[in-house]
Amino acid sequence: MLRNILITGGAGFIGSNFVQYFFEKYANYYAVVLDKLTYAGSLDNLKKCESLPNYTFAQGDICNASLVSEIFEKYDISDVIHFAAESHVDNSIANPLSFVETNVLGTATLLEVFRKKYPQSTTNRFHHISSDEVYGTLGKVGYFTEETAYAPNSPYSASKAGSDMLVRSYFHTYNLNVVTSNCSNNYGPKQHSEKLIPTIIRYALAEEPIPIYGDGKNIRDWLYVMDHCRAVDLIFHEGRSGETYNIGCRNERSNLQIAYKICELLDARHQRKSWNYSKLITFVPDRPGHDRRYAIDATKLRTELHWKAEESFDTGIAKTVEWYLERISKKN
Ligand SMILES: NC(=O)c1ccc[n+]([C@@H]2O[C@H](COP(=O)([O-])OP(=O)(O)OC[C@H]3O[C@@H](n4cnc5c(N)ncnc54)[C@H](O)[C@@H]3O)[C@@H](O)[C@H]2O)c1
Repeated sequence: MLRNILITGGAGFIGSNFVQYFFEKYANYYAVVLDKLTYAGSLDNLKKCESLPNYTFAQGDICNASLVSEIFEKYDISDVIHFAAESHVDNSIANPLSFVETNVLGTATLLEVFRKKYPQSTTNRFHHISSDEVYGTLGKVGYFTEETAYAPNSPYSASKAGSDMLVRSYFHTYNLNVVTSNCSNNYGPKQHSEKLIPTIIRYALAEEPIPIYGDGKNIRDWLYVMDHCRAVDLIFHEGRSGETYNIGCRNERSNLQIAYKICELLDARHQRKSWNYSKLITFVPDRPGHDRRYAIDATKLRTELHWKAEESFDTGIAKTVEWYLERISKKN
């Protein structure tokens, strides 16, 4: 049976990788991508999907209830996978209200349209994509589990936490068929240039100082974007309604380790006798409220749904650097 899925934020980094993966894999699903095309979204990210017979794009805002309702009716939407968000922590410090609007109000708008269309359905699903940042920060030891109390520290993570709570409430209040996944930091092709890994590559190739916040020892648990997409596929199909699933693969790296690794890969590509890219690494004043360490315990996803990351950090980061180098060489 053909199902028409609304994918929000499909022109962004993770959403566009997901749309290509999912709709190439499943011919019985039709994708309607709804994206506002903010500075973070680009139709270039969806170029390869244009030739897919089961794909269509609509430009618009998830906060616009009448537009979302119109799309539900026009395409007879059966399910929602909700990626759209304002996603950059630094921007949330400068402009928190746009994060509240898109991440909280936008999620509420989608949930309301979905609830009105499928008040009692157990077969129509709303999958909400969220972040491990909702749990706050860890010390040197320990992991975030699905039972860890929420303690968001930035306006970004607070707005994601708010959206997670709304999704939770729609399960408990309306018994809606919802599921939430909380993922660690993603990396891979098509990530916006503002994020850490593209920033390091961009500054290195421009031979400019590579900015690293504070002492560079903030740790994130890095996941290759396609491993995230495979996890979303599993959770969307097999995750239990009303549950949350953490996604991560125990790839803890400090920002400084990431910078050194990328410099090493670039050195291997552009061999020079006199200097290495790592000499460009420069410490800059820390981000306010910068969480020290994130680390995910994904036991539930592994044991219940048998998910396993396919990419190691070494293979994933090599593919990522290669993708940026190819892209830059095509532009020149
Ligand atoms: N990138 C990560 O490391 C990471 C980790 C965990 C969770 N997440 C979550 O995954 C999702 C996708 O993240 P990403 O990194 O791909 O983000 P991104 O910033 O690359 O893409 C976000 C997309 O949403 C669109 N968008 C923004 N506001 C919109 C609105 N009001 N209406 C419609 N579309 C709108 C943008 O145009 C863009 O295409 C987000 O919900 C984010 O919180 C990201």
